[in-house]
Amino acid sequence: MYPLNEELSMKNILIIGCAGQIGTELTMELRKIYGNEHVVATDLKEAPASIMQSGPFHQLDILDREGIRSLVKKYQIDGIINLAAILSAVGEKNPMLAWNINMNGLINVLEVAREEGVTRVLTPSSIAAFGPETPIENTPQETVLKPKTMYGITKVAGELLGDYYFNKYGIDVRGLRYPGIISHEALPGGGTTDYAVAIYYDAIKYGKYTCFVKEDTKLPMMYMPDCLKATIDLFHAEIKNLKHHSDFNLAAMSFTVGELAESIKKYMPQFEISYEPDYRQAIADSWPNSIDDTSARSEWGWKPEYDLDKMTQDMLHHIKIKHQNGEY
Ligand code: NAD
Ligand code: SER
Repeated sequence: MYPLNEELSMKNILIIGCAGQIGTELTMELRKIYGNEHVVATDLKEAPASIMQSGPFHQLDILDREGIRSLVKKYQIDGIINLAAILSAVGEKNPMLAWNINMNGLINVLEVAREEGVTRVLTPSSIAAFGPETPIENTPQETVLKPKTMYGITKVAGELLGDYYFNKYGIDVRGLRYPGIISHEALPGGGTTDYAVAIYYDAIKYGKYTCFVKEDTKLPMMYMPDCLKATIDLFHAEIKNLKHHSDFNLAAMSFTVGELAESIKKYMPQFEISYEPDYRQAIADSWPNSIDDTSARSEWGWKPEYDLDKMTQDMLHHIKIKHQNGEY
């Protein structure tokens, strides 16, 4: 699935924040590629059994710089993937927590990388880096970055820090502006785009869903298999081809909530949706409708595989099995 050039691979990878929506699946994909022992998984909380039983796992707070250093030394880590973060909705409830984890955590990762000779760091950004002054359709790679959420502010600062460590210290820091990620393995961790996951769970369990943003809210989204592919492909891209580093625009599909509901109705005609917008509406309204990811496509060959209906069929299939197994 992911053709690997020996020279582009890392020897040992440290994942921070492995127990979240993306880490739960990315850790296992990387273990398939590198071998279980070469992917050291960490999180503040316990990880799913699949991760804890298949390879090294340590409980680690990203705010504990010496804890990160000691694992980097112990496992001779040469690549770090930082997934620990407070996302947009939780971040607006507790902005100082978002600042602390997202910024001081990232600085710890970058400083340990600098001091211990880690060669590559991947730390994701987000569509939350954009704001209401950004062009809303086909948002360009180079554009206005004036987010209105604390989460978005930390994402812009994180992109700038990544490029700073690349230019000043030669550390190969890479990052992508993920759209909303949709998946069925682990639940999302408190973002504004969480409705696009919850809708499938409630469709299967209750046959209906009440959405916290309006019907015409349109955001860029991506299915997890494409997210994993993008992340791993960028992590292994040849550096000589990269003109950008920490801030790649990334796109797969864009849809309104109404269109998402129509997609579900194709396979579940009785499905019903209602709307009760809350504080997350303002966050969603400050983000673009669609993204121009030409730089990712031309610099490291990015191409998504899933569209809305293909994703809907797969989500409904997997969540139905979870429900039948009594998992939720
Ligand atoms: P998540 O909230 O599901 O997972 C984050 C993980 O970080 C959790 O397992 C949490 O326990 C861990 N964590 C929190 N505080 C920690 C600390 N102090 N020390 C160590 N670990 C800590 O998030 P995710 O969706 O997996 O996101 C991963 C990255 O991708 C984040 O940088 C996020 O901003 C970015 N991103 C995600 C999305 C999305 O839709 N999921 C979209 C854009 C960007
Ligand atoms: N899915 C994320 C959020 O809504 C986007 O970064 O916070």
